Amino acid sequence: MRDRLLAAEKVKAIDWRDGTLYLLDQRVLPFEQTWIACTSAAGVAEAIRSMVVRGAPAIGISAAYGVVLAARARFAEGGHWQEALEEDFAQLAATRPTAVNLSWALGRMRERLARLKKHADPLSVLEAEALAIHESDREANLTMAQLGVDLIRKHQGNAQAILTHCNTGALATGGFGTALGVIRGAFIEGMVERVYAGETRPWLQGSRLTAWELANEGIPVTLSADSAAAHIMKTKGVTWVIVGADRITANGDVANKIGTYQLAVNAMHHGVRFMVVAPSSTIDMDLASGDDIVLEERDERELLEVGGQRLGADIDAFNPVFDVTPADLIDVIVTEKGIVERPDTAKMAQLMCRKRLH
Ligand code: MRU
Repeated sequence: MRDRLLAAEKVKAIDWRDGTLYLLDQRVLPFEQTWIACTSAAGVAEAIRSMVVRGAPAIGISAAYGVVLAARARFAEGGHWQEALEEDFAQLAATRPTAVNLSWALGRMRERLARLKKHADPLSVLEAEALAIHESDREANLTMAQLGVDLIRKHQGNAQAILTHCNTGALATGGFGTALGVIRGAFIEGMVERVYAGETRPWLQGSRLTAWELANEGIPVTLSADSAAAHIMKTKGVTWVIVGADRITANGDVANKIGTYQLAVNAMHHGVRFMVVAPSSTIDMDLASGDDIVLEERDERELLEVGGQRLGADIDAFNPVFDVTPADLIDVIVTEKGIVERPDTAKMAQLMCRKRLH
């Protein structure tokens, strides 16, 4: 399956070339394929904040390259460049609050800098570290796809209808995806009849990005309003809900795109299994539970305006873009270190002691 999955790796959203970070502008997909060139940490920070690049692993990878760009500029300035670099770390860290992959990647870059040998070239060391972060996410996607496919096979076998939310594919990661990677793998193995993708309002990551990725590969996808999910679970033979994550806490609670929590509640009611697929860089063992996660709230205009036009009366809107699914609604969390069924604090701690599987 590995080779067939790699062959399916068609879309790429992050490209590091000749010392410049190129990001596929996800705000305008699928209508336009425009690449934005980032040559500074400020440029990368703005790209993350404004959703040019989005998806937890993709944000972390981009931030790591942002540190490389920042180091280049600070090093050229001379003096106490490593101290000055802290400003860039802070700027990148402040872009979006919920996905822990961002601070994880920045932490890894900072730690690598701290271990620098006396005569080493700091710029090439940092560049190698960012490339390693990128490549290890790609590898993690492969391992998780295999584990997720094995779980689907174990529970049901063929001809499944799967429901997913937001975009967890090549656009959101360094490879071909987390939840969407499992779905891709299951399709290759002949175990997927249809994928139901929720629109994922208000940014429409489901309709603009997930449906586009799947349709491009000939994977049967049906788009629905987010509010159709319960009805679809009841009437369309859905066997699994498979989603990604932005932060998983020490007890197995999962922050993911707004609407994930109601999918989990509905899945439990309908006897549909609920799988979360995320690399261990998404797991935050410093937070005891989902109550401690900062959930991003975005501009109310994302709800009050359509195509730049105000909808109507002068009213307030509440626009949280993530929610927390409690661990007890989750059947299984799939990571590159292994799987955790019915997650809890002890099982999560055990998982995090393990090495990567491949
Ligand atoms: O606001 P976004 O588009 O960055 O949110 C993305 C999600 O919620 C994804 O489901 C999550 O990051 C997992 S991506 C592999």
